[in-house]
Amino acid sequence: MSQPVNELENAIVISDLKKTFNQVDYVLQGIDLKIPKGSLTAIIGFSGTGKSVILKHILGLYQPTSGSIEVLGRDLSQLDADGMTEFRKNFGVLFQGAALFDDMSVLENVCFPILEHQKNLTEAEIIDRAGKKLVQVGLNEKDFQKLPSQISGGMQKRTGLARALALDPEILFYDEPTTGLDPILTEMVDDLIVETHRHRPGITSVMVSHDLAASFRIADFVVMLHAGRVLLSGVPNVFFKTDNELVKTFVTKGMRI
Ligand SMILES: Nc1ncnc2c1ncn2[C@@H]1O[C@H](COP(=O)(O)OP(=O)(O)OP(=O)(O)O)[C@@H](O)[C@H]1O
Ligand SMILES: [Mg+2]
Repeated sequence: MSQPVNELENAIVISDLKKTFNQVDYVLQGIDLKIPKGSLTAIIGFSGTGKSVILKHILGLYQPTSGSIEVLGRDLSQLDADGMTEFRKNFGVLFQGAALFDDMSVLENVCFPILEHQKNLTEAEIIDRAGKKLVQVGLNEKDFQKLPSQISGGMQKRTGLARALALDPEILFYDEPTTGLDPILTEMVDDLIVETHRHRPGITSVMVSHDLAASFRIADFVVMLHAGRVLLSGVPNVFFKTDNELVKTFVTKGMRI
């Protein structure tokens, strides 16, 4: 459905990543994972399998117990705290619930990361850029001055996405973008993810999701985790042709959450 994935170039390469928080139980037990550059990748798996923990490692919020993480050709272990903050400019993140600043207007929410990271821009340029991002995700200028509490859930998601896109990231992350939303809003957000991906050639989108049907429908690369390991990864078709019983159960019956 989307453009073909270039298997040769990877945006993210994770090798033998292990993580324990208590020195006894390993949440991640040796993750080997390559996320193709330009792909719309879905990371799926039962609740508690380590999806969000992996995402936090990629964002540099958690340190590996062992193993390595390379993002856009950079080994994250080589970056100090300032270097990581700077490197995060390459990332846009849309968390569950959009996580907007409640006391800032829609427009101010999107201006925020630009103001922080693009100190060379004038106020007018920042407002202009933020406004363009909001329009790109389907928001109307008449809503720019409203507070998050004064707009609908769908508009909040759009605002969160505009903020994630504010710095023109190379990788866009979504953690559970549709969990807890009603079916109509879920479809709108799924469509928005696909549109956002298609309109930005070269961008890599990584979505952590409980929604199996949506993951197979919209992603062009899927990674399934189980018990802290990668059980299977590949194009969606690989999941429908496999003999692995666990994957088959997972795919046919969906996830229990
Ligand atoms: N900061 C932490 N300290 C201790 N344990 C943690 C921490 N963060 C996550 N864990 C544990 O790691 C495991 C994996 O958690 P994670 O949040 O990655 O699951 P998940 O796959 O994202 O699940 P869900 O689908 O429910 O969001 C869980 O057992 C969780 O309790
Ligand atoms: Mg999670």
